[in-house]
Amino acid sequence: MMASPSSPTIPLTCCSSSSSSSFHPSSRRTKFELPAKSQRSPPSLITSRVGAPDSPLSSIAADAASSAGDRVSRRRKLISVAATLPFLLQLRGYVEEGIIADAAELDNDEYTMIKEEVRKVVSKAKAAGVLRLVFHDAGTFEMGENSGGMNGSIVYELERPENAGLKKPVKILEKAKGEVDARRPVSWADMIAVAGAEAVSVCEGPIIPVVLGRLDSMKPDPEGRLPEETLDAFGLKKCFQRKGLSTQELVALSGAHTLGSKGFGNPVVFDNSYYKVLLEKPWMSSAGMSGMIGLPSDRALVEDDQCLRWIEKYANDQNLFFKDFKNAYVKLVNSGARWRSL
Ligand code: HEM
Repeated sequence: MMASPSSPTIPLTCCSSSSSSSFHPSSRRTKFELPAKSQRSPPSLITSRVGAPDSPLSSIAADAASSAGDRVSRRRKLISVAATLPFLLQLRGYVEEGIIADAAELDNDEYTMIKEEVRKVVSKAKAAGVLRLVFHDAGTFEMGENSGGMNGSIVYELERPENAGLKKPVKILEKAKGEVDARRPVSWADMIAVAGAEAVSVCEGPIIPVVLGRLDSMKPDPEGRLPEETLDAFGLKKCFQRKGLSTQELVALSGAHTLGSKGFGNPVVFDNSYYKVLLEKPWMSSAGMSGMIGLPSDRALVEDDQCLRWIEKYANDQNLFFKDFKNAYVKLVNSGARWRSL
């Protein structure tokens, strides 16, 4: 069964993963619907060890305070605190480093596991849909409103006209998510962010590392945030600006349209053909199907001087495109994300 506001399957998966994952409601700084309980929180161990009433540091400090009536003893204890402090601080450093190293190792295992499960379901043929899913989840972010973004809410938004065709990639990832959840709960937001990066790499694009820890929203994001395909370059730039994305990032991210059926090169190879084809403006030709190539929004980019400069750079230098796409992708999948506490 597919996800929709009226269909519980995906939201339930979403809730079940969230409710048993490592999220701390108390750590929320912004109004956001939260998963209920926490399972994994290695970094919070640091807080409890360092500041806890039974820690070496606090017991010595408490001792020193309680012996106010006895100046000699107090002075001795203060001297002892002063002498012990550097050692304790150093010890604390080792403990923290150990815990952080453990946490990093855990994250690494989790990351590898998610990537492995994603690879089992995301073939070259399915890559385009999965990559598009990323933009439709993250692209709802608006900086001014501080809402929307990479939060897995796409699973509640699949009936929206702009999301037509995205049930399939969600369904594909649901299978992988189920496998991961059985071992260690993962949010939809992390799942989609990693899957998009893997989709790019399956199609021979750049390797994009994705940090884990995004929280899922439990409700749809506000509507009308994604750019319409009929926007001109000015409208596209404004729309991306509201998401904190520059003109250069708009042009780099639009290069994702090299995948799929819009006629930019090989539909399953992630390369810089998008920019090469844009410069040729095949839609101006009446020959064959060339009038069908590209979306109005793609064609609009090449008519804008600022965008054109980037299009030319990326058409001439695939490595630059890969580097800039990678950085813009990382920014996109972190847009508006709420993170489990550190
Ligand atoms: C710049 C504004 C954008 C607009 C107006 C836009 C709009 C669209 C539209 C209308 C489609 C065609 C869907 C269909 O064939 O049914 C499409 C496809 C696609 N979009 Fe975008 N998009 C934009 C940016 C992005 C970004 C930033 C990404 C990812 C980083 C992206 C990834 C994709 C992919 C991979 C496809 C091909 C999907 C497939 O063939 O299955 N798009 N986009």
